[in-house]
Amino acid sequence: MAEETHTPRVFSGIKPSGGLTLGNYLGAIKRFVATQGSAMETIYCVVDLHAITVWQDPADLTKATREVAAGYLASGLDPAKSILFNQSQVSGHAELAWIFNCVARLGWMNRMTQFKEKAGKNAEKQSLGLYAYPSLMAADILLYHATHVPVGEDQKQHVELTRDIAAKFNHDFKAGGFFPMPEPVIEGPATRVMNLRDGTKKMSKSGESDMERINMTDDADTIAKKFKKARTDPAPLPDAYDDLADRPEARNLVDIYAALNDMTPQAVIAEYAGAGWGQFKPALADLAVAKLAPISQEMERLMADPAEIDRVLAQGSERARAIAAPILDRTYDLVGMIRGA
Ligand code: AMP
Ligand code: TRP
Repeated sequence: MAEETHTPRVFSGIKPSGGLTLGNYLGAIKRFVATQGSAMETIYCVVDLHAITVWQDPADLTKATREVAAGYLASGLDPAKSILFNQSQVSGHAELAWIFNCVARLGWMNRMTQFKEKAGKNAEKQSLGLYAYPSLMAADILLYHATHVPVGEDQKQHVELTRDIAAKFNHDFKAGGFFPMPEPVIEGPATRVMNLRDGTKKMSKSGESDMERINMTDDADTIAKKFKKARTDPAPLPDAYDDLADRPEARNLVDIYAALNDMTPQAVIAEYAGAGWGQFKPALADLAVAKLAPISQEMERLMADPAEIDRVLAQGSERARAIAAPILDRTYDLVGMIRGA
């Protein structure tokens, strides 16, 4: 089959497990919004099938799915400009994932560091889905022939695996360039927002203490309190950003400031060189409140009308299915499956 040229198309997703954090906002959603309206078609998914790789109470899953959708909308994703939907409404994700389960090699899956971290010493007790999850992620991306995948740093390895799966499929089924080689897009100062109590760990939805993270639904007082109590070292801010290399907590706060305010971390340092935490932390808290409060208020308003969110997701799913269906049909043809004419 001849090489194909692929129209640039963006796909990304967030799991509805627990609430959204500042890490999701700065590492993902804010960057999704920035890509919207560019020449590229943009598809943003609430990946509910990924969430159930670890136990989710059904009622909580429904609520978390609407909350991620509300976070998308409140941050500025516009269903007229982007396709917004939840994964399980488009059955092609699960279908293509099965085919990719038969393409990906066990050795590839065994290298996935996120599985090793999440499973820890208890790998035997994890679900098969958690292990196979990167193959479903590859299906999410390739079902739309997406070429660009904006994600945080922790997802780079999974996008690389997606490329390996695409290449092996194309090779094994003599499919030329049928599946594109998607690029991870990992840019800006906040591709890895760290835990506020331990600057060597990623800020995540599932950390033990709520003080470790900023939730997108936190109120102004909570945000201020969390930044005030954030761990730092005693030294003031240096004259050069590079001097923060061995000060992970300090660097994290500077990076968060930069990302919230659309500046480089170097520009933040130029403004605050020599400042102590008594000056910088309140400035950071004020900035975070100014940026996040309107979003959390809008999320609350949207969450009060779940039927409207569900309607947006249903419409987005229909548009997603229209793109996915011919790609899935061609995939089945390449594999040699019979389908009715
Ligand atoms: P998840 O919540 O694991 O579904 O992640 C959804 C998106 O948010 C992915 O692109 C992640 O890379 C990104 N993300 C999650 N946590 C962080 C973080 N602490 N810093 C930067 N990006 C993050
Ligand atoms: N695995 C991603 C995460 O945990 C979420 C995700 C699922 C995703 N499918 C995707 C991200 C496709 C980008 C593209 O963060």
